[in-house]
Amino acid sequence: MKRQSIQKKINGNYALVTGACKGIGRAMACECASKGMNMLLVSDDQVALNRLMQDLCQWYRVDCRIFCIDLAKEQAPLKVFEWVMENAFPITALINNVGIGKSGTFSEMEIKEANYMITLNNRVFIELTFYFLKLLQQQPKAYILNMSSIEATLPLPYKAVYTGTKNFVYAFSLALREELKPTKVSVSVICPGPVLTNADGLSRMNAHGKRSKLLLMMPDQVAKIAIDGMLKGKLVIVPGYINAFFFWLGSKLPRSIKMPLLEKLFRVYKT
Ligand SMILES: NC(=O)c1ccc[n+]([C@@H]2O[C@H](COP(=O)([O-])OP(=O)(O)OC[C@H]3O[C@@H](n4cnc5c(N)ncnc54)[C@H](OP(=O)(O)O)[C@@H]3O)[C@@H](O)[C@H]2O)c1
Repeated sequence: MKRQSIQKKINGNYALVTGACKGIGRAMACECASKGMNMLLVSDDQVALNRLMQDLCQWYRVDCRIFCIDLAKEQAPLKVFEWVMENAFPITALINNVGIGKSGTFSEMEIKEANYMITLNNRVFIELTFYFLKLLQQQPKAYILNMSSIEATLPLPYKAVYTGTKNFVYAFSLALREELKPTKVSVSVICPGPVLTNADGLSRMNAHGKRSKLLLMMPDQVAKIAIDGMLKGKLVIVPGYINAFFFWLGSKLPRSIKMPLLEKLFRVYKT
């Protein structure tokens, strides 16, 4: 799609990004704003939200609003929806980015930690999608972009809960896309490989040594591919050629070969 026709469609409308202050969420917010979209930024750090709002307004001359909330709290997605309704923001893109990843042996994990991951990675985006879908369907063209991971086809031992949550995002997105085919709402799912965002990620990368650097991408690279893919209506977006190859391989390799291999490769996540 030509840049001008994309611009025409998105100007004056709002894109909502969850987990917008840091990492890939922040980079996707910058990418959307750079394309002329007005922004609704949702995260749990008021200071960082304020700073990002000021930056986006100044750099890209778009309207930018913020909503500070701990999304893992009961009713938080509903509160985000009510905020959008009260302000009548015409929303055309819902970018479900927020999520966390913890690794370690499942049996040694705190159940609280597993539940938190399931809430933040799954419950939040399901509720947001549910609340916003009717609003999005009223638009001439609208987008939902869900954050999965390369692990959607490569289930990682020692990251069993995280991998499970990302598989859920992937499967849900594929299914919803079909349901919404007759409508103007396009559903995309992004499946990045490792992205250098936070200290946790950096230590995992170091544990893997040189080979992980082959797959490693920076948040702004991923964000550009994600938003371009979303606006083109791509179903599955896998940033990076090597990652795309492994994603494909993950879907083709027999389980009896794939799983023992992954266990060996990711044993470093045990601790
Ligand atoms: N990084 C990777 O290698 C990678 C690869 C594939 C997929 N992903 C997925 O991409 C998404 C973003 O990952 P990232 O690495 O960019 O993460 P990140 O750097 O940790 O950023 C996450 C953002 O979400 C916010 N957040 C966290 N908990 C929240 C809560 N309870 N309520 C509201 N906001 C909250 C964080 O704010 P605070 O820090 O202030 O809490 C931060 O702004 C996740 O869904 C992740 O699973 C990441």
